Amino acid sequence: RTIAIVGGGDTSEFYVSLRSAQGIYSFIDKEKYTLYIVEMQGLRWEVQLSDGTKAPIDRNDFSFQNGAEKVKFDFVYITIHGTPGEDGRLQGYFDLLQIPYSCCGVLAAALTYDKFACNQYLKSFGVRVAESLLLRQGQAVSDEDVIEKIGLPCFIKPSLGGSSFGVTKVKDKEQIQPAIAKAFEEAQEVVVEAFMNGTELTCGCYKTLDKSLVFPPTEVVTHNEFFDYDAKYNGQVDEITPARISDELTLRIQTLTSAIYDILGCSGIIRIDYIVTAGEKINLLEVNTTPGMTATSFIPQQVRAAGLDIKEVMTDIIENKF
Ligand code: DAL
Ligand code: MG
Repeated sequence: RTIAIVGGGDTSEFYVSLRSAQGIYSFIDKEKYTLYIVEMQGLRWEVQLSDGTKAPIDRNDFSFQNGAEKVKFDFVYITIHGTPGEDGRLQGYFDLLQIPYSCCGVLAAALTYDKFACNQYLKSFGVRVAESLLLRQGQAVSDEDVIEKIGLPCFIKPSLGGSSFGVTKVKDKEQIQPAIAKAFEEAQEVVVEAFMNGTELTCGCYKTLDKSLVFPPTEVVTHNEFFDYDAKYNGQVDEITPARISDELTLRIQTLTSAIYDILGCSGIIRIDYIVTAGEKINLLEVNTTPGMTATSFIPQQVRAAGLDIKEVMTDIIENKF
């Protein structure tokens, strides 16, 4: 089978996404599959060829011309973080073309990409989430309202996005409005969210028709004020897999992760981030449907900790779609 690994996209996560594409390239079995990396940015969709050149993708059928040969894809591994690969847009496009892909479908992708909407939805199923306020573009909120309704410290972040771009941990009243302005530079919706004091944990999961795998959670111990971009990608963090928590708490996190996967109707590998607060209360931070897949990302760590072979996991995900 011929597979496209699609990376890039239209947000600040462009480069992180291309690194995930390289990761996926290294994880998929090249004896079984023919792989191409496709880089997308706006309407620039290009396949990287083995000679170092690039060829444009024909959007009519997601094919490209390799010399005299027209190459079509049997499967797409979407590893764009952000628009258009994490929010359902490409999923809709590939649905129309009837090309199977690696991750969640349109609804689960679009819903989870909107942190506020997803958290409200999951809250209605009894999942614990932080108190939060949503601001749409043009909407303002006074410092007093933030302090009264959410309290300080709080997090101000784009409701759409990833890798902590545009996120501020706000401790003082003076920081509120600049933080809102900064978050609006990344997205058209901003969330003001109560700070939760506790341990950050993240747990990956994937299911196929006959299998349900929930990985050992990772504990995230950031050296910075929070798990920001620098901590995520410049090593300012200790990532401990499996997390140093009791078997009982591990099981509760895995059970919740599996339940959320089913509630949302997910597909492929997802990763859910949590904060465990006093009394071992598990609070949802967010659901990632195209989690980071660089060689050092959480999911590869968790797959190893589970004693699984990442190549086999990839083969499983691909073959499950046929
Ligand atoms: N948005 C990053 C890549 C993640 O959630 O893994
Ligand atoms: Mg994320």
